[in-house]
Amino acid sequence: MSLYAIGDFHLSFQVNKPMTVFGSVWKRHEEKIQRYCGRMVRPEDTLVITGDHSWGRKLAECREDLAFIEALPGRKILLRGNHDMFWDAKKTEQLNEEYRGRLLFLQNNYYSYEDYALVGTKGYTFEGPFYLDRRGRILGWDEDKEEHAKKLVDREMARLQVSFDAAWADGYRKFILFLHYPPTSVIETDSPFTRIAEQYHVEHVVYSHCHGESRFGDSIRGEYHGVCYHLVSGDYLGFRPERIL
Ligand SMILES: [Fe+2]
Ligand SMILES: [Fe+2]
Repeated sequence: MSLYAIGDFHLSFQVNKPMTVFGSVWKRHEEKIQRYCGRMVRPEDTLVITGDHSWGRKLAECREDLAFIEALPGRKILLRGNHDMFWDAKKTEQLNEEYRGRLLFLQNNYYSYEDYALVGTKGYTFEGPFYLDRRGRILGWDEDKEEHAKKLVDREMARLQVSFDAAWADGYRKFILFLHYPPTSVIETDSPFTRIAEQYHVEHVVYSHCHGESRFGDSIRGEYHGVCYHLVSGDYLGFRPERIL
C-alpha cells in the first residue's frame, strides 16, 4: 500500500481553457496523468490531489473533470485549490455525500492512511506584488496586500486546526499535512503552517500551486526543521505522482 500525491491538474473538459499556453509540459497533460497514474497507482493505494482540479466555475461545469479524477486508480482524496470555484468550503459535507464511495474531499476533516492522519486545507501565502531592483532582488512589497494576506492565512489556519483537532481526538499522533498553497512566501523562512507542522511533528508537508520554472523554488523543498517538504505541482512532476509513503 502506498501514498501518492500530485496537484494542479487544471482540467477543462467542459470549458475552453487550453493549458498549452503555459508551456509544452501541458500538451495533452490529461493523457500523461492517466498514463502515469495508471502505471504507478494500484487500487489499494491512496492518491491525494492537492487542488486546482478544474477550470469550471460551478459544479455543473466540473462533472467531467471530476469523473476523469474518479476514473484514476486508487482511493482519491481531493484538496481545495484557489481555482476550485465549484467547492464551497462550508459545503464540503454535501460534496462528500454526493461523491460517497467515489471521491473524498478533505476540508475541516481528515482521512486515515495506516496509522497516519492525512490533514489539510487550501492554505494561503502572500504573493506580492513585490518591488524589485534591476537584478530582480526584492526591495519591498505592497504592505496593504500583505495585511490582507495575513487575514486569509489566519482563516486557513483555523480550518487546519479543525482538521488536526478531529484527528487528534480520534487518537492519531502521526500526521501528513496537505496544502494547496506553498507553506511560506518568497520572503519567509517560516510561517504559521511550518510552525504547526513542527508543533505536531508532521512528517511530510505536501503542497502545489507553484507553476513554471521560475516559481518552483518559491517555498521550502526537502528537509527543514525535521519536516520533509514536497512540491507536487503537476507540471513540476511532469505529471507523475510523487510517492510520499
Ligand atoms: Fe494551479
Ligand atoms: Fe493554485
